[in-house]
Parts: sequence; structure tokens; C-alpha cells
Amino acid sequence: MRKAGALLALLTVSGLSFLFAQSTVGHIGRVPTAEELRKWKSPILPDGTGMPIGSGTAAHGEIIFVNKCGGCHGMHGEGHDPVGPQLVGGIGSLRTPNPVLTVGSYWPYSTSVWDYIHRAMPYYPNPGTLSVDETYSVTAYILYLNHIIARDEVMNQITLPKVRMPNRNGFVSDPRPDVHAMAKR
Ligand code: HEC
Repeated sequence: MRKAGALLALLTVSGLSFLFAQSTVGHIGRVPTAEELRKWKSPILPDGTGMPIGSGTAAHGEIIFVNKCGGCHGMHGEGHDPVGPQLVGGIGSLRTPNPVLTVGSYWPYSTSVWDYIHRAMPYYPNPGTLSVDETYSVTAYILYLNHIIARDEVMNQITLPKVRMPNRNGFVSDPRPDVHAMAKR
């Protein structure tokens, strides 16, 4: 009888903890709104497919950058530890003992930079608020600061995807066979 009682007690405790776990999980987060999903889901591919029509230059981008980005990233993208990473410089440093990861040294596609900025920056509290033209302009400014394009070069849905990033061929596919098998699933 004592045994049965202990068992019942055990069942009750585990049953309760199950309920507790369920209710906790059930209250985390919420269903995203259609507007949030639209912002997060990106139709833009590295080759430029899906880039929206618009344009901008580094000269215009500098004004936006100083107002909306420089506070965290430094006025010339030099970084501002710990609030915003360095965006400029470090090109050619990845194979050295002191690699510096920036947009210029690391990112393989200019289109991904555009897409990331458009969706995720100016970070907090208002990511995703730059217009299409503003995003072309700040992207141009960051590329210009990295000496990848000229200051007056117009960046738009045709020209930006043609910009070749310095680390374009720096990525190698993972040779482990199981990783490849996973990726194919
Ligand atoms: C409140 C601070 C803040 C502001 C303002 C801000 N950023 Fe950022 N930015 C960050 C942080 C923090 C990260 C790193 C985020 C991460 O890794 O998850 C980041 C990452 C980035 C990156 C990717 C860097 C990399 O190599 O991974 C780019 C590009 C960028 N920001 C551009 C911009 C631009 C352009 C603006 C202005 C429109 C801007 N940011 C405004 C804080 C900021």
C-alpha cells in the first residue's frame, strides 16, 4: 500500500511537471503578424534576383549613415565596441593571425549586405525602417569606404549585383560528407 502511494505521488508530480512545462512553453512568444513575416522573409538572392527598383550613391549615403548608423558603427564604419561592429577595412587580413571581419573583408555578396541592412538595421529600436533608396545609398557608402566602388557610382538593382566583393571566392564548401548529406535533405 505504501508502495502504491509512493508510485501515485510520483505520477502526480511528474504529471504536474508535464502540465507546468506545457503551460510555460505555451506562453512563450506569439504568432508573428503578416507584416512581420513580410519583413523577415527575404526574396533577395545573392545574384540580385528580387532586388527592388531604386538607387542611391555613397555621397547621399554618408548623410544617412552619420545620422542613423555612425552612433553605433563609428562615423566611418570603424566600429564602436561593443555597440556596433567594424564595417570597414581588414581587407586581406583573413589569412593572417589577426583577421578583421568587416563588410569589406568578409562578406561575399553586395546584395546580401543590402538585404541585411534593409531588414536588420538600424538595429534597435527600429530595424527595417530604411527606404529602398536609403538602403542603396548606405550600402554604397559602406562599399565606398571599403574602396570597392567610387563615391559617385550609382547603385541600383542592376549595378549593385555586379559589384564584386573582395572575399567573393574566400568561402569553401564544407567537405564533411554528413554535412553535405544534411544540406541535401
Ligand atoms: C543601436 C546600434 C546600431 C545602429 C544604430 C546600427 N547598427 Fe548596424 N549593427 C549593430 C550591431 C550590434 C550589429 C551586429 C548584429 C549581430 O551580429 O547580430 C550590427 C551589424 C551591422 C552590419 C553587419 C556587420 C557584419 O559584418 O556582420 C551591417 C552591414 C550594419 N550593421 C549596417 C548598419 C547600417 C547601414 C546602419 C544605419 C542604417 C546601422 N547598421 C545602424 C548595431 C547598430
